[in-house]
Amino acid sequence: MLPEFFEFYNPTKVVYEDGVATDLKPELDIIGIKKYFIVSDHVIHDLGLVQKVADGLAEAGVEVTGTYLDVAQDARLKDVQFCADQIKASGAEGIVSIGGGSVIDTAKAANILFSEGGDLVEDYSGAQTLTRPLKPHVVIPTTAGTGSEVTMIAVIYDEENKEKLAFPDKFLLPTLAVLDPQMTLSLPPKMTAATGMDALTHAIEAYVDIDASPISDAFATGAIELIFKHLVTATRNGDDVEARGGMQIASTMAGIAFTHSMVGCIHSMAHATGALYRVPHGVANAIFLPFGMEYNFEEITEKLARLARFMGEDTTGLSTEDAARSAIAAVRGLTAQLNALDALPIRLRDVGVPEDGLEAIAEGALNDGSSFYNPREMDECELLPYIKNAY
Ligand SMILES: [Fe+2]
Repeated sequence: MLPEFFEFYNPTKVVYEDGVATDLKPELDIIGIKKYFIVSDHVIHDLGLVQKVADGLAEAGVEVTGTYLDVAQDARLKDVQFCADQIKASGAEGIVSIGGGSVIDTAKAANILFSEGGDLVEDYSGAQTLTRPLKPHVVIPTTAGTGSEVTMIAVIYDEENKEKLAFPDKFLLPTLAVLDPQMTLSLPPKMTAATGMDALTHAIEAYVDIDASPISDAFATGAIELIFKHLVTATRNGDDVEARGGMQIASTMAGIAFTHSMVGCIHSMAHATGALYRVPHGVANAIFLPFGMEYNFEEITEKLARLARFMGEDTTGLSTEDAARSAIAAVRGLTAQLNALDALPIRLRDVGVPEDGLEAIAEGALNDGSSFYNPREMDECELLPYIKNAY
Protein backbone atom coordinates (compact mmCIF):
# COMPACT_ATOMS: atom_id res chain seq x y z
CA MET A 1 0.00 0.00 0.00
CA LEU A 2 1.34 3.43 -0.90
CA PRO A 3 1.64 6.13 1.77
CA GLU A 4 -0.89 8.96 1.49
CA PHE A 5 1.92 11.50 1.62
CA PHE A 6 5.66 11.55 1.72
CA GLU A 7 8.45 13.96 0.94
CA PHE A 8 11.95 13.24 -0.31
CA TYR A 9 14.61 15.94 -0.12
CA ASN A 10 18.22 15.02 -0.69
CA PRO A 11 20.32 17.93 -1.99
CA THR A 12 23.66 16.58 -0.71
CA LYS A 13 25.92 15.59 -3.57
CA VAL A 14 27.62 12.25 -2.94
CA VAL A 15 30.92 11.31 -4.58
CA TYR A 16 32.55 7.91 -4.19
CA GLU A 17 36.04 6.90 -5.31
CA ASP A 18 39.07 5.24 -3.78
CA GLY A 19 41.37 8.18 -2.94
CA VAL A 20 38.88 10.95 -3.75
CA ALA A 21 39.22 12.65 -0.33
CA THR A 22 42.69 13.83 -1.31
CA ASP A 23 41.72 14.79 -4.85
CA LEU A 24 38.73 17.09 -4.49
CA LYS A 25 39.60 19.87 -6.93
CA PRO A 26 36.77 19.22 -9.43
CA GLU A 27 34.18 19.18 -6.62
CA LEU A 28 35.61 22.21 -4.82
CA ASP A 29 35.72 24.16 -8.09
CA ILE A 30 31.99 23.54 -8.46
CA ILE A 31 31.29 24.80 -4.92
CA GLY A 32 33.44 27.79 -5.83
CA ILE A 33 34.89 29.02 -2.52
CA LYS A 34 38.58 29.04 -1.69
CA LYS A 35 38.87 29.19 2.12
CA TYR A 36 37.92 26.20 4.26
CA PHE A 37 38.20 25.50 7.98
CA ILE A 38 38.80 21.86 8.98
CA VAL A 39 36.85 20.26 11.86
CA SER A 40 38.12 16.86 13.04
CA ASP A 41 39.39 15.15 16.20
CA HIS A 42 42.75 14.14 17.66
CA VAL A 43 42.36 10.44 16.77
CA ILE A 44 41.81 11.21 13.10
CA HIS A 45 44.58 13.78 13.20
CA ASP A 46 47.04 11.32 14.76
CA LEU A 47 46.23 8.78 12.04
CA GLY A 48 47.52 11.36 9.54
CA LEU A 49 44.14 11.71 7.81
CA VAL A 50 43.72 15.43 8.50
CA GLN A 51 47.11 16.18 6.98
CA LYS A 52 46.33 14.03 3.94
CA VAL A 53 43.13 15.94 3.26
CA ALA A 54 44.81 19.30 3.98
CA ASP A 55 47.57 18.47 1.48
CA GLY A 56 44.91 17.61 -1.09
CA LEU A 57 43.12 20.89 -0.43
CA ALA A 58 46.37 22.82 -0.90
CA GLU A 59 46.92 21.05 -4.21
CA ALA A 60 43.40 22.01 -5.21
CA GLY A 61 44.31 25.68 -4.65
CA VAL A 62 42.26 25.97 -1.47
CA GLU A 63 43.45 27.70 1.69
CA VAL A 64 42.96 25.94 5.03
CA THR A 65 42.25 28.84 7.42
CA GLY A 66 42.44 26.75 10.59
CA THR A 67 41.77 23.40 12.22
CA TYR A 68 39.61 22.46 15.22
CA LEU A 69 40.38 19.04 16.75
CA ASP A 70 38.84 19.16 20.23
CA VAL A 71 35.68 17.21 19.47
CA ALA A 72 34.96 14.75 22.31
CA GLN A 73 33.31 11.34 21.93
CA ASP A 74 29.96 13.13 22.14
CA ALA A 75 29.43 16.32 20.17
CA ARG A 76 29.23 18.85 23.02
CA LEU A 77 27.47 22.17 23.24
CA LYS A 78 30.47 24.18 24.45
CA ASP A 79 32.70 22.67 21.75
CA VAL A 80 30.24 23.81 19.10
CA GLN A 81 30.53 27.39 20.33
CA PHE A 82 34.38 27.30 20.53
CA CYS A 83 34.54 25.71 17.12
CA ALA A 84 32.21 28.28 15.54
CA ASP A 85 34.17 31.16 17.08
CA GLN A 86 37.41 29.83 15.60
CA ILE A 87 35.87 29.27 12.18
CA LYS A 88 34.55 32.84 12.15
CA ALA A 89 37.83 34.37 13.36
CA SER A 90 39.80 32.45 10.72
CA GLY A 91 38.07 34.13 7.81
CA ALA A 92 36.85 30.82 6.35
CA GLU A 93 34.09 30.66 3.77
CA GLY A 94 33.18 27.03 4.37
CA ILE A 95 33.86 23.91 6.46
CA VAL A 96 35.45 20.55 5.75
CA SER A 97 34.65 18.01 8.47
CA ILE A 98 36.68 14.80 8.69
CA GLY A 99 35.50 12.19 11.19
CA GLY A 100 32.66 10.15 12.60
CA GLY A 101 29.23 11.27 13.77
CA SER A 102 30.41 13.55 16.60
CA VAL A 103 32.79 15.49 14.37
CA ILE A 104 30.22 15.85 11.61
CA ASP A 105 27.46 16.88 14.02
CA THR A 106 29.76 19.39 15.74
CA ALA A 107 30.59 20.88 12.33
CA LYS A 108 26.92 20.97 11.30
CA ALA A 109 25.90 22.78 14.49
CA ALA A 110 28.95 25.09 14.36
CA ASN A 111 27.94 25.98 10.81
CA ILE A 112 24.64 27.35 12.17
CA LEU A 113 26.51 29.77 14.44
CA PHE A 114 29.17 30.49 11.81
CA SER A 115 26.61 31.27 9.11
CA GLU A 116 23.83 32.87 11.15
CA GLY A 117 25.29 33.83 14.56
CA GLY A 118 23.23 33.62 17.76
CA ASP A 119 23.01 30.99 20.47
CA LEU A 120 22.44 27.36 19.54
CA VAL A 121 19.98 26.54 22.33
CA GLU A 122 18.19 29.89 22.63
CA ASP A 123 17.81 30.59 18.94
CA TYR A 124 17.72 27.20 17.20
CA SER A 125 15.95 24.73 19.52
CA GLY A 126 13.12 22.88 17.88
CA ALA A 127 12.74 21.65 14.34
CA GLN A 128 13.40 23.62 11.18
CA THR A 129 14.36 26.96 12.68
CA LEU A 130 16.71 27.99 9.86
CA THR A 131 15.36 30.07 7.02
CA ARG A 132 18.10 29.84 4.39
CA PRO A 133 21.07 27.68 3.35
CA LEU A 134 24.18 27.72 5.53
CA LYS A 135 27.78 28.12 4.33
CA PRO A 136 29.18 25.20 2.29
CA HIS A 137 29.98 22.08 4.33
CA VAL A 138 32.03 19.26 2.85
CA VAL A 139 31.88 16.05 4.88
CA ILE A 140 34.49 13.28 4.74
CA PRO A 141 33.30 10.41 6.96
CA THR A 142 35.94 8.21 8.59
CA THR A 143 33.46 5.65 9.91
CA ALA A 144 30.76 3.80 8.03
CA GLY A 145 27.70 3.97 10.23
CA THR A 146 26.15 7.26 11.33
CA GLY A 147 25.11 8.45 7.88
CA SER A 148 25.44 11.98 9.28
CA GLU A 149 26.93 13.11 5.95
CA VAL A 150 23.44 12.86 4.43
CA THR A 151 21.11 13.49 7.37
CA MET A 152 19.32 16.70 8.26
CA ILE A 153 20.03 16.50 11.96
CA ALA A 154 22.79 17.31 14.42
CA VAL A 155 22.68 15.74 17.89
CA ILE A 156 24.58 17.74 20.49
CA TYR A 157 25.17 16.80 24.13
CA ASP A 158 24.32 19.47 26.69
CA GLU A 159 26.77 18.58 29.45
CA GLU A 160 25.24 20.99 31.98
CA ASN A 161 21.76 19.50 31.78
CA LYS A 162 22.99 16.01 30.85
CA GLU A 163 20.73 15.66 27.85
CA LYS A 164 21.10 15.21 24.13
CA LEU A 165 19.65 18.00 22.05
CA ALA A 166 18.52 17.32 18.51
CA PHE A 167 18.60 20.02 15.86
CA PRO A 168 16.62 18.76 12.86
CA ASP A 169 16.72 21.13 9.92
CA LYS A 170 16.91 20.60 6.19
CA PHE A 171 19.54 23.33 5.91
CA LEU A 172 21.91 21.14 7.95
CA LEU A 173 22.21 18.76 5.02
CA PRO A 174 25.85 19.03 3.95
CA THR A 175 26.82 20.36 0.53
CA LEU A 176 29.02 17.41 -0.40
CA ALA A 177 29.56 13.93 1.08
CA VAL A 178 32.91 12.42 0.13
CA LEU A 179 33.04 8.63 0.36
CA ASP A 180 36.62 7.43 0.17
CA PRO A 181 37.40 3.91 1.46
CA GLN A 182 40.96 5.07 2.24
CA MET A 183 39.50 7.16 5.05
CA THR A 184 38.11 4.10 6.89
CA LEU A 185 40.96 1.60 6.39
CA SER A 186 42.40 2.27 9.85
CA LEU A 187 39.08 1.92 11.69
CA PRO A 188 39.63 -0.88 14.28
CA PRO A 189 37.49 -4.08 14.04
CA LYS A 190 35.31 -3.18 17.06
CA MET A 191 34.48 0.25 15.67
CA THR A 192 33.91 -1.22 12.22
CA ALA A 193 31.45 -3.77 13.57
CA ALA A 194 29.62 -1.35 15.88
CA THR A 195 29.27 1.46 13.34
CA GLY A 196 28.25 -1.04 10.65
CA MET A 197 25.53 -2.41 12.91
CA ASP A 198 24.35 1.16 13.52
CA ALA A 199 23.96 1.52 9.74
CA LEU A 200 22.08 -1.79 9.55
CA THR A 201 19.76 -0.65 12.33
CA HIS A 202 19.11 2.63 10.48
CA ALA A 203 18.19 0.70 7.35
CA ILE A 204 15.95 -1.89 9.04
CA GLU A 205 14.16 0.66 11.22
CA ALA A 206 13.71 3.02 8.27
CA TYR A 207 12.16 0.16 6.28
CA VAL A 208 9.63 -0.87 8.94
CA ASP A 209 8.79 2.56 10.44
CA ILE A 210 5.44 4.28 9.98
CA ASP A 211 6.94 7.05 7.79
CA ALA A 212 8.55 4.67 5.26
CA SER A 213 8.01 5.42 1.56
CA PRO A 214 8.92 3.56 -1.65
CA ILE A 215 11.93 5.88 -2.02
CA SER A 216 13.27 5.42 1.52
CA ASP A 217 12.59 1.67 1.11
CA ALA A 218 14.86 1.55 -1.94
CA PHE A 219 17.71 3.14 -0.02
CA ALA A 220 17.09 0.92 3.03
CA THR A 221 17.04 -2.36 1.11
CA GLY A 222 20.10 -1.34 -0.93
CA ALA A 223 21.97 -0.62 2.29
CA ILE A 224 20.93 -3.92 3.89
CA GLU A 225 22.16 -5.89 0.88
CA LEU A 226 25.55 -4.16 0.98
CA ILE A 227 25.95 -4.57 4.75
CA PHE A 228 25.27 -8.31 4.64
CA LYS A 229 27.75 -8.59 1.81
CA HIS A 230 30.57 -6.49 3.29
CA LEU A 231 30.43 -5.97 7.06
CA VAL A 232 32.07 -9.22 8.17
CA THR A 233 34.88 -8.83 5.62
CA ALA A 234 35.44 -5.16 6.53
CA THR A 235 35.65 -6.18 10.20
CA ARG A 236 37.93 -9.17 9.61
CA ASN A 237 40.15 -7.52 7.05
CA GLY A 238 40.27 -3.77 7.49
CA ASP A 239 42.47 -3.31 4.42
CA ASP A 240 39.84 -4.70 2.06
CA VAL A 241 39.06 -1.61 -0.01
CA GLU A 242 36.03 -3.22 -1.68
CA ALA A 243 34.44 -4.14 1.66
CA ARG A 244 35.27 -0.73 3.16
CA GLY A 245 33.79 0.99 0.12
CA GLY A 246 30.67 -1.19 0.27
CA MET A 247 30.15 -0.28 3.92
CA GLN A 248 30.61 3.44 3.26
CA ILE A 249 28.04 3.41 0.49
CA ALA A 250 25.69 1.32 2.66
CA SER A 251 26.04 3.73 5.56
CA THR A 252 25.20 6.69 3.34
CA MET A 253 22.21 4.88 1.80
CA ALA A 254 20.95 3.93 5.26
CA GLY A 255 21.41 7.57 6.31
CA ILE A 256 19.29 8.77 3.39
CA ALA A 257 16.66 6.16 4.28
CA PHE A 258 16.36 7.06 7.96
CA THR A 259 16.59 10.82 7.58
CA HIS A 260 13.32 10.46 5.66
CA SER A 261 11.66 7.56 7.48
CA MET A 262 13.22 7.94 10.96
CA VAL A 263 14.24 5.20 13.39
CA GLY A 264 12.17 3.37 16.03
CA CYS A 265 12.21 1.33 19.22
CA ILE A 266 15.68 -0.13 18.69
CA HIS A 267 17.22 3.34 18.63
CA SER A 268 15.00 4.34 21.57
CA MET A 269 16.44 1.49 23.65
CA ALA A 270 19.97 2.22 22.42
CA HIS A 271 19.66 5.94 23.28
CA ALA A 272 18.45 5.08 26.79
CA THR A 273 21.22 2.51 27.28
CA GLY A 274 23.83 4.96 26.01
CA ALA A 275 22.62 7.74 28.30
CA LEU A 276 22.35 5.52 31.40
CA TYR A 277 25.32 3.17 31.02
CA ARG A 278 27.56 4.80 28.37
CA VAL A 279 27.18 1.84 26.00
CA PRO A 280 28.41 2.90 22.53
CA HIS A 281 25.53 3.65 20.18
CA GLY A 282 26.34 1.03 17.54
CA VAL A 283 26.93 -1.70 20.13
CA ALA A 284 23.61 -0.97 21.85
CA ASN A 285 21.80 -1.02 18.50
CA ALA A 286 23.43 -4.33 17.58
CA ILE A 287 22.36 -5.89 20.88
CA PHE A 288 18.76 -4.68 20.62
CA LEU A 289 18.23 -5.14 16.87
CA PRO A 290 16.87 -8.72 16.79
CA PHE A 291 14.80 -8.14 19.93
CA GLY A 292 13.30 -4.94 18.54
CA MET A 293 12.38 -6.82 15.36
CA GLU A 294 10.66 -9.40 17.58
CA TYR A 295 8.83 -6.71 19.56
CA ASN A 296 7.43 -5.32 16.30
CA PHE A 297 6.91 -8.72 14.68
CA GLU A 298 3.09 -8.74 14.39
CA GLU A 299 3.03 -5.30 12.77
CA ILE A 300 5.87 -5.90 10.31
CA THR A 301 5.71 -9.59 9.39
CA GLU A 302 5.31 -8.96 5.65
CA LYS A 303 8.01 -6.32 5.59
CA LEU A 304 10.46 -8.59 7.40
CA ALA A 305 9.63 -11.40 4.98
CA ARG A 306 10.54 -9.07 2.09
CA LEU A 307 13.74 -7.94 3.83
CA ALA A 308 14.99 -11.52 4.27
CA ARG A 309 16.05 -11.84 0.65
CA PHE A 310 18.10 -8.62 0.85
CA MET A 311 19.94 -10.34 3.69
CA GLY A 312 20.80 -13.22 1.37
CA GLU A 313 18.15 -15.62 2.71
CA ASP A 314 16.42 -18.04 0.36
CA THR A 315 12.76 -17.76 1.33
CA THR A 316 11.38 -19.85 -1.53
CA GLY A 317 8.49 -21.95 -0.29
CA LEU A 318 8.47 -20.41 3.18
CA SER A 319 5.32 -18.96 4.74
CA THR A 320 5.36 -15.20 5.25
CA GLU A 321 5.86 -15.74 8.95
CA ASP A 322 8.76 -18.15 8.49
CA ALA A 323 10.38 -15.84 5.94
CA ALA A 324 10.04 -12.98 8.44
CA ARG A 325 11.63 -15.13 11.15
CA SER A 326 14.48 -15.93 8.78
CA ALA A 327 15.24 -12.17 8.58
CA ILE A 328 15.63 -12.04 12.36
CA ALA A 329 17.74 -15.21 12.26
CA ALA A 330 19.92 -13.62 9.55
CA VAL A 331 20.56 -10.60 11.79
CA ARG A 332 21.48 -12.95 14.66
CA GLY A 333 23.75 -14.86 12.28
CA LEU A 334 25.53 -11.64 11.33
CA THR A 335 26.04 -10.48 14.91
CA ALA A 336 27.22 -13.98 15.89
CA GLN A 337 29.89 -13.82 13.17
CA LEU A 338 31.04 -10.41 14.42
CA ASN A 339 30.98 -11.71 17.99
CA ALA A 340 33.12 -14.69 16.96
CA LEU A 341 35.67 -12.20 15.59
CA ASP A 342 35.72 -10.65 19.09
CA ALA A 343 34.47 -7.43 17.51
CA LEU A 344 30.94 -7.15 18.91
CA PRO A 345 29.28 -7.93 22.27
CA ILE A 346 25.77 -9.31 21.81
CA ARG A 347 24.41 -9.23 25.37
CA LEU A 348 23.66 -6.31 27.70
CA ARG A 349 25.38 -8.20 30.53
CA ASP A 350 28.65 -8.01 28.55
CA VAL A 351 28.66 -4.21 28.20
CA GLY A 352 28.34 -3.17 31.85
CA VAL A 353 24.57 -2.89 32.11
CA PRO A 354 23.39 -4.02 35.58
CA GLU A 355 20.48 -6.47 35.70
CA ASP A 356 18.54 -4.11 37.95
CA GLY A 357 18.91 -1.34 35.35
CA LEU A 358 16.64 -2.87 32.71
CA GLU A 359 13.45 -1.13 33.89
CA ALA A 360 15.22 2.21 33.59
CA ILE A 361 16.12 1.37 29.97
CA ALA A 362 12.46 0.58 29.20
CA GLU A 363 11.38 3.85 30.80
CA GLY A 364 14.05 5.84 28.96
CA ALA A 365 13.11 4.20 25.64
CA LEU A 366 9.48 5.24 26.07
CA ASN A 367 10.52 8.87 26.53
CA ASP A 368 12.85 8.86 23.50
CA GLY A 369 11.72 10.70 20.38
CA SER A 370 12.43 7.73 18.10
CA SER A 371 9.64 5.74 19.75
CA PHE A 372 7.01 7.89 18.00
CA TYR A 373 7.88 6.35 14.63
CA ASN A 374 7.91 2.75 15.78
CA PRO A 375 5.38 0.53 13.98
CA ARG A 376 4.07 -0.93 17.25
CA GLU A 377 2.89 1.39 19.97
CA MET A 378 5.51 1.57 22.70
CA ASP A 379 4.48 0.17 26.05
CA GLU A 380 6.94 -0.04 28.91
CA CYS A 381 5.55 -3.29 30.36
CA GLU A 382 5.37 -4.96 26.97
CA LEU A 383 8.86 -3.80 25.97
CA LEU A 384 10.58 -4.91 29.19
CA PRO A 385 10.61 -8.70 28.47
CA TYR A 386 12.47 -8.03 25.19
CA ILE A 387 15.06 -5.93 27.05
CA LYS A 388 15.38 -8.77 29.58
CA ASN A 389 15.92 -11.20 26.70
CA ALA A 390 18.73 -8.92 25.45
CA TYR A 391 20.38 -9.10 28.86
FE1 LIG B 1 22.05 5.32 14.87
